[in-house]
Amino acid sequence: MAAEASIPGIKRVAFVSGAARGIGLAIAERLARDGCHVIMADLNAQSIGVSAQKLQAAGLSATPAVLDVRDRKAVSALFDTLPRLDVAVNNAAIFSDKEFFSLTEDDFRSTYEVNVVGLFIVAQEAARRMGEGSRIINIGSRSYLGGRNHAHYIASKGAVASLTRGMAIDLASKGIYVNAVAPGVIETDMFHSVSPERRAEMLKLQLTGKFGQPADIANAVGFLAAATTEYITGQVLHVDGGKSLGGPMS
Ligand SMILES: NC(=O)c1ccc[n+]([C@@H]2O[C@H](COP(=O)([O-])OP(=O)(O)OC[C@H]3O[C@@H](n4cnc5c(N)ncnc54)[C@H](O)[C@@H]3O)[C@@H](O)[C@H]2O)c1
Repeated sequence: MAAEASIPGIKRVAFVSGAARGIGLAIAERLARDGCHVIMADLNAQSIGVSAQKLQAAGLSATPAVLDVRDRKAVSALFDTLPRLDVAVNNAAIFSDKEFFSLTEDDFRSTYEVNVVGLFIVAQEAARRMGEGSRIINIGSRSYLGGRNHAHYIASKGAVASLTRGMAIDLASKGIYVNAVAPGVIETDMFHSVSPERRAEMLKLQLTGKFGQPADIANAVGFLAAATTEYITGQVLHVDGGKSLGGPMS
């Protein structure tokens, strides 16, 4: 077990990006329930305050932060205010459903800027401040294996999987474990940006006959973040009801 995690009375500190809603909010709640003080960061100033208040009202330890993960200076300034940093969850991402011939270079650039470069900035600034036994957990997507009408997003999530492997190797000597969770279709606002017709098609392709919930991803992150989980690094954990096993792609 990481030495600092075993000091009684000292909370582990976790950072979660994109924590205002959906999967990020569920992850923040899970880590707070597991005993972490959670820094809940999001671009959406209004929602992040409301979401953090909900956790605080439930007796959990959480602080909101308005943050754009693309802004290195802001990320660095936020991390400088923390007494310690044990867990960093890179969850913030953007998605758009777009047919291949209507995709533009700007679609690629804006998606990469958040999903890959923003993730890299947070991971690098976090790793500079982390001690042995710390965790970086990246939220990828099962769709990096293939999917229809979002090639730019798929490519960005492929980069998240590769970056996870590269960082796991580079940070192993510092004792930092780096893993990714690749969700299948999870019922959140991001998912509801897809048309009802497409959602009905996607449901037919679910081996389990149902979509996942934010808590399914939070459970996987809770496992990877736990101080008792050791010796796992550079892995992509698919939480997708078996979708990554093959069969028709959504
Ligand atoms: N919902 C799904 O079906 C699904 C499937 C596979 C992977 N994922 C991944 O799970 C993660 C969360 O997905 P979700 O469905 O909860 O998304 P969501 O769109 O509901 O929430 C994303 C949050 O990230 C924030 N955000 C966006 N850009 C940001 C930036 N530059 N800086 C800081 N915050 C920013 C948004 O304000 C929002 O609160 C993402 O990485 C997504 O790619 C989701």
